Amino acid sequence: MNISEQIQLENIAACEYEIFALLKQRYSPRTFKEASIKQQHINQIFEAARWSASSNNIQPWRFIYAERNTPAYDKILSCLNDFNREWATNAPLLMLTAYKEETEDGVENFHALHDLGFAIGSMTMQAQYMGIALHSMAGVDWEKAQDVFNVPEGYHIASAIAVGYYGGEIEKLSEELQEQEINERKRIRQRDFAFKEQWD
Ligand SMILES: Cc1cc2nc3c(=O)[nH]c(=O)nc-3n(C[C@H](O)[C@H](O)[C@H](O)COP(=O)(O)O)c2cc1C
Repeated sequence: MNISEQIQLENIAACEYEIFALLKQRYSPRTFKEASIKQQHINQIFEAARWSASSNNIQPWRFIYAERNTPAYDKILSCLNDFNREWATNAPLLMLTAYKEETEDGVENFHALHDLGFAIGSMTMQAQYMGIALHSMAGVDWEKAQDVFNVPEGYHIASAIAVGYYGGEIEKLSEELQEQEINERKRIRQRDFAFKEQWD
């Protein structure tokens, strides 16, 4: 077993209750295998988004994606903050996520960001099934991204995502990031977010 496989194993969530294996194994790496993502896999990831649920079936999610060694990939990279740019270059594919702000009636769709998140969740689990990691990034200059990609009015860039097969070399990361990669993964307790019968 190489060091990357070992890290992947050690990153498995220490669940208190048994959950679906794909959920347990998912994590957000900052290093990825050198391989580009197969076109079939790209299509399967977006198909998972396509069949996600959304308020009134509005399907407000939008994505712009690009593969490494293309001008569009460099454009996405240029919109990331310095911290994310440092490691996201390890990803063979980058994407920007966006949502449509209004319903067909011109009313603000309060659930658009919710639905984009749901679609990204579906994509993430489909990807996980194929050995692909999605690492979301809030650290993106959304105004610059809107400008660089001529995003039409009425759509809002929400985040970026680094996409790649698990199994990257940890040595590609700075010492600080290597440490973060192997740090214990922590979560708040169930009782602090799942309230029975009353808020407390
Ligand atoms: C909406 C969103 C934004 C995030 N933004 C960043 C980011 O800008 N940079 C980064 O390195 N990780 C980012 N992350 C990854 C989180 O830090 C990570 O999901 C969290 O620490 C839990 O770790 P895990 O995904 O490995 O379980 C983001 C995750 C989400 C869902």
